[in-house]
Amino acid sequence: MKRILVTGGAGFIGSHLCERLLKEGNDVICLDNYFTGSKENIAHLLSNPYFELVRHDVTSPYYAEVDEIYNLACPASPVHYQYNPIKTVKTSVMGAINMLGLAKRVRAKILQASTSEVHGDGCDSVYQADAGVENADIFVATTGSDDVNLISCEIAKLVFGVPRTIARVNSPKNERIFRRMGIEAVSSTMVITRLIESEAMAGAVHAVMSLTQGDLVLTEVNIPNPDALVNPTAAKLEGRRVADITLPDGSLLVAVGRGDSLEIVKGATILYPGDQVIVVHKEGLENEVKSVLRSIR
Ligand SMILES: NC(=O)c1ccc[n+]([C@@H]2O[C@H](COP(=O)([O-])OP(=O)(O)OC[C@H]3O[C@@H](n4cnc5c(N)ncnc54)[C@H](O)[C@@H]3O)[C@@H](O)[C@H]2O)c1
Repeated sequence: MKRILVTGGAGFIGSHLCERLLKEGNDVICLDNYFTGSKENIAHLLSNPYFELVRHDVTSPYYAEVDEIYNLACPASPVHYQYNPIKTVKTSVMGAINMLGLAKRVRAKILQASTSEVHGDGCDSVYQADAGVENADIFVATTGSDDVNLISCEIAKLVFGVPRTIARVNSPKNERIFRRMGIEAVSSTMVITRLIESEAMAGAVHAVMSLTQGDLVLTEVNIPNPDALVNPTAAKLEGRRVADITLPDGSLLVAVGRGDSLEIVKGATILYPGDQVIVVHKEGLENEVKSVLRSIR
């Protein structure tokens, strides 16, 4: 069991972290001044004997014998950190100095939370450089403007050498242009269309993700379960071994979701009506994959 200090523990991330650390069997001190956080976020933890709540401001020194410190105490959204900029700077600087001092004194490991954003125009390479884009594995552009998403992805790729760029495409007409330029395109219109389609048809196929390289599509297929519609509890399900299912060439069963679990598929895995199956296949094979998997019942 470790003794762990979470500053800003009554905030959004802090409260979930406290919960997780307690579940893992640790002794947790949650420190907060409730500027943006609230006791309600951690009310369910108060009866746990290994949880301790301290009202304190990190701009003042704090001492506790702990093994680890997560310093999350700082207003995180613009409306809150701009409310009193001087106090925000003090919290960031004095808070970090106090927590680093404590870590040094008690030889604790420390995690310092950082800011979540760089403000500026994503189409300006100066801001991309400021955000450290050259170290990114993936650049994602999700603004409501296709022009901005396209240009910022191109800058990330060509100027900073980011290997993968993914863009939200607002107008379906532009999807092809993005793909032609090697940008992975996620069209909100297409995603919504597919969701509606899958809601409308039991056992329908919908693409979860489209992978530009190699024209591969990751698709989720719900195997229909008509018995469950008639009498869900009496439904006696007959399954089929994956090794006995012949899918078209260029397609592969990857995983199966059942209830809360997701398993990698092997030859001996049995698929049942009601399962959600993830398939990787070449573009254009949707209907063939669908008709094979819909016949499992
Ligand atoms: N939420 C995100 O997406 C995100 C992303 C990256 C980094 N972060 C960073 O993670 C940290 C926590 O973010 P969050 O989303 O949980 O924010 P939050 O506002 O929900 O939590 C911050 C907590 O710190 C407390 N706090 C503020 N000033 C304090 C002070 N002087 N002394 C003691 N407590 C103080 C607040 O009352 C609140 O409970 C922040 O530093 C934020 O910049 C957040």
